[in-house]
Amino acid sequence: MQSILQNGGFLLGNTYKTAWYKCCSSFSMMMKAVCVEKPGRPENLLLHSIPRPEPKDGEVLIKVHATALNRADLLQRRGLYPAPPGESDIIGLEVAGTVETLGPGVSCSWKPDDRAMALLCGGGYAEYVAVPEKLLMPVPTHLTLSQAAAIPEAWLTAFQLLVFIAQVKAGEVVLAHAGASGVGTAAVQLARLFGAVPIVTAGSPEKLKMAEDLGAAAGFNYKEESFAQRVHDFTGGKGANVILDCIGGQNWEQNVSCLAVDGRWVLYGTMGGRTVEGDLLGKLLSKRGHLLASLLRSRSHQYKADLVKAFTHRVLPQFSNQMGSLMPVIDSVFNLEDIAEAHRHMEANKNMGKIVVNLMPQI
Ligand SMILES: NC(=O)c1ccc[n+]([C@@H]2O[C@H](COP(=O)([O-])OP(=O)(O)OC[C@H]3O[C@@H](n4cnc5c(N)ncnc54)[C@H](OP(=O)(O)O)[C@@H]3O)[C@@H](O)[C@H]2O)c1
Repeated sequence: MQSILQNGGFLLGNTYKTAWYKCCSSFSMMMKAVCVEKPGRPENLLLHSIPRPEPKDGEVLIKVHATALNRADLLQRRGLYPAPPGESDIIGLEVAGTVETLGPGVSCSWKPDDRAMALLCGGGYAEYVAVPEKLLMPVPTHLTLSQAAAIPEAWLTAFQLLVFIAQVKAGEVVLAHAGASGVGTAAVQLARLFGAVPIVTAGSPEKLKMAEDLGAAAGFNYKEESFAQRVHDFTGGKGANVILDCIGGQNWEQNVSCLAVDGRWVLYGTMGGRTVEGDLLGKLLSKRGHLLASLLRSRSHQYKADLVKAFTHRVLPQFSNQMGSLMPVIDSVFNLEDIAEAHRHMEANKNMGKIVVNLMPQI
């Protein structure tokens, strides 16, 4: 607690903390939010009291019960991934909570106290966030709001990559790197749902085991062996039809080597470097490969609304409490006061699945 309050203009220690919360609660239009005054280390995440957002035309104000971390949050904290123009500069790409109020022009499909989860351009690390109505999704009935907060960004990304970008077909082999990441755990389950054959890379036996438990047909430890060779062995030399690549530079040679002829290599992150040296184009051409790149946050509201609609229709009903249904994978749950610790946990690559941050006691 101390680390996020120090330098933030707030008083330190429990006595003062209580006084501060009492003081702020008397200003009902204020809210707690995590702010970054100076880009840098996790300690620079500071809890502040700031004005609550007002829902604009077509927006719904959500009372946030839980949010979840994404890799992009770490970059934004360091000043390397600023919010798109006009969007909240508070970190946080997803939330689950309850509808507080409706802005002007919102349709009748939402009402106060409805449970909702949402994809955001930013603003998730706060007690309230205003969200375009079309980016809201109902929370599956058997999930808690804490579990639901782990769905929007990772699952919509994985769905977008597989369906909108790669146009995956039943029977195709999908190689997903970082198979135990938030996006990876969703991609494995979705590939299975669409009748494809997911295989993964990850950096530890525990992570590979978890991906296999979720439905991966095989997993390769990229730290110990050539994943390209293992993909060749697994596919009888044909290669992977789709590669979901959030690593980039360090893997390019193995990726193009194990891509099937006419395969789709979808770049959506560069955790392993942004530069490439060598005969990438020649090797890609000989495979007639498609190199596709995608970012979700910078897409238009209409694109995201179409994605949310397709996901809600096609995937959301599959989150049931039946055996074999989809499930958000949660690595750990932190309180908002411990946000710096949550960032350190992700930065150390310790998480398997999503890191959730609760803003309210979960019931
Ligand atoms: N384009 C988009 O729209 C979009 C949207 C969402 C997320 N993303 C990207 O998707 C990726 C996953 O995000 P997330 O939030 O799900 O991540 P996450 O849960 O934090 O998992 C990331 C995992 O990637 C692995 N990793 C890190 N550096 C690596 C490297 N150099 N080589 C190989 N593996 C490495 C680590 O697992 P191991 O122990 O297995 O190495 C790490 O735990 C990130 O790159 C993120 O930026 C992109």
